[in-house]
Amino acid sequence: MSVQRYAVIGHPVAHSLSPRIHAAFARETGIALEYTAIDAAPEDFDAVLAGFAAEGGVGANITLPHKTRAAQICNYLSEAAQRAGAVNTLIRTATGWQGDNTDGVGLVRDLTERQGLDLRARRTLLIGAGGAARGVAPALLDAGIGDLYIVNRTPERADALADVLAQPGRVHPRYINDVGTLGNFDLVINATSAARSASFPSLPINLVAPRGAAVDLSYGEAAVPFLAWARSARAQNCIDGLGMLVEQAAESFQRWHRVRPETDAVYALLRDHDSLLVTAD
Ligand code: ATR
Repeated sequence: MSVQRYAVIGHPVAHSLSPRIHAAFARETGIALEYTAIDAAPEDFDAVLAGFAAEGGVGANITLPHKTRAAQICNYLSEAAQRAGAVNTLIRTATGWQGDNTDGVGLVRDLTERQGLDLRARRTLLIGAGGAARGVAPALLDAGIGDLYIVNRTPERADALADVLAQPGRVHPRYINDVGTLGNFDLVINATSAARSASFPSLPINLVAPRGAAVDLSYGEAAVPFLAWARSARAQNCIDGLGMLVEQAAESFQRWHRVRPETDAVYALLRDHDSLLVTAD
């Protein structure tokens, strides 16, 4: 039997940790598979994915900037993918691609099980309203957080995300310039790609409540500016997205192989090599 083919498709993708993570899961579970990184510019995404399928590709992780496009080409979307409007996991079926989104459940699993946070009733601020924010917001609400405030450089996108979440009593879009008037938060989550492009927006130092947590969905260098701010804001927990990355990978692995790998060893290995991490996935 030929080895099953999997890949992560993104742009850029050369520094993705997903091939290492899935190779480690494969070793741990004794499943033979090939998992590569495929670079696809936005205009080439559909053709690259079709080529991957033609060469026997049965599953893919989708990363920046293709998550929204990937949702559009699926003929079936999980509820998580529908609510996120974005897909990070593709599963080949007889009739085409099935799309899922494991980012949100991966984040919640990291925060609750690895970091030991109790998310219930936590007053939460989500900074950003792009694909990453859309991916995690539904899972955070499902995990039982309290009110969710959303701020974004482009206010219309915060409004649009709040509309999709459809819980007007609980989800509140606000202007990012008003962030200093919103009080403090038990959980502050950076879901912007600001550190990967320009300067990070300035945030008041009293935004994090006593014993509050601050989370950046990125890891490595991309997470440095926000986590530096989080430390100066005296967040009790300053958490980057490495654990979320490993957990979303485990969730994808489970959907493809029907077995959930143990994640602690892979997480520890990557954490030890943290200085090598230069990109988000
Ligand atoms: P991703 O999938 O990483 O979320 P995206 O959909 O392009 O990528 O969204 C990027 C997010 O980072 C958006 O919330 C974006 O704000 P806009 O909606 O206003 O574009 C935010 N972002 C990127 N660079 C930023 C910056 N320099 N300052 C503030 N927000 C920024």
